[in-house]
Amino acid sequence: MHAIRAVVADEFEKVNRLIVEQLRSDVDMVENVGHYIVDAGGKRLRPLLVLLCAAALGRSDDSHIAFAATIEFIHTATLLHDDVVDLSTLRRGRPTANAEFGNAPSVLVGDFLYTRAFQLMVQLGNMDILTHMATTTNTIAEGEVLQLVRAGDPEVSEEQYLDVITRKTAILFAAACYGAATASGADDNTREVLRAFGLHLGIAFQMVDDVLDYDGNPDSMGKNVGDDLSEGKVTLPLIYTLQSGQPEEQALVQAAIKARSSEHIGAITDAVRRCGALDYTRARAQHYHDMARDSLLTLPDSRARGALQTLTTLSIDRNY
Ligand code: IPE
Ligand code: IPE
Ligand code: MG
Ligand code: MG
Repeated sequence: MHAIRAVVADEFEKVNRLIVEQLRSDVDMVENVGHYIVDAGGKRLRPLLVLLCAAALGRSDDSHIAFAATIEFIHTATLLHDDVVDLSTLRRGRPTANAEFGNAPSVLVGDFLYTRAFQLMVQLGNMDILTHMATTTNTIAEGEVLQLVRAGDPEVSEEQYLDVITRKTAILFAAACYGAATASGADDNTREVLRAFGLHLGIAFQMVDDVLDYDGNPDSMGKNVGDDLSEGKVTLPLIYTLQSGQPEEQALVQAAIKARSSEHIGAITDAVRRCGALDYTRARAQHYHDMARDSLLTLPDSRARGALQTLTTLSIDRNY
């Protein structure tokens, strides 16, 4: 990650400064909760994608800096909301904002970040980007609602799972890359290539996140394992186990989904691992990773393209 950031070091610094600047509010609680989650860091993967895509295309002005901050604000808003919905207690290595301040402040400050992102985008004055981001954020909201509706239902198919993760996660990755290309004045074909790159990368990224929810280490991830199971969230590791596990493993997983309970997390993690569900999910992530990497080959060779290739691979070969 360090070497990747070095490729756009000055701009990355500018984005981080802008993010902090834009948390400004004369309402104390907005700043307190905003700083609480922003100062905890996070990988800043999405703004990096923006900067690297723009660099790979030889961007023309500074508009990608504000756009990168915008994307991180939207991402951070969804995390504040998501942790309330998922009843999560650990994020970025510290108690979640909902655990620290309560649900209401998390939801409302999430709204502040969402709307601040749009204020920033309006300043950018690019109607293409604004239109695309309006649709993107609307789709993310649908994705999270769809996931909520499908929680607790062991009949969820792999196709439905793919639909949910595309909406809730991959669409924002796609928009980061598409917006960077748009801000760089790229042609329609290049914008579409980068949109597809981001989409496939985002799908792979969420699949690995769903593996890590069973197989990860809270210390390196900075968030708890088992959150998906306790919400009855039917992710790919469980879908595969329901199809390919032994009958008693299937029964165990089915009961846990219906009960939305992580009471048997140990036995379920064993089952998920034993029947090959984690390997299967990682293989699916690899498939989308490969598609993402292939898209990059159509860009001219550059240091930024090299960094995007490394970032793509790191997004699936990770434990954090
Ligand atoms: C978490 O995203 C939400 C998912 C889409 C899985 P990140 O793993 O990028 O979170 P931070 O920003 O690094 O904390
Ligand atoms: C990603 O899903 C949620 C968003 C897109 C906001 P998760 O619920 O798996 O994300 P984490 O694991 O809490 O970061
Ligand atoms: Mg969550
Ligand atoms: Mg997760």
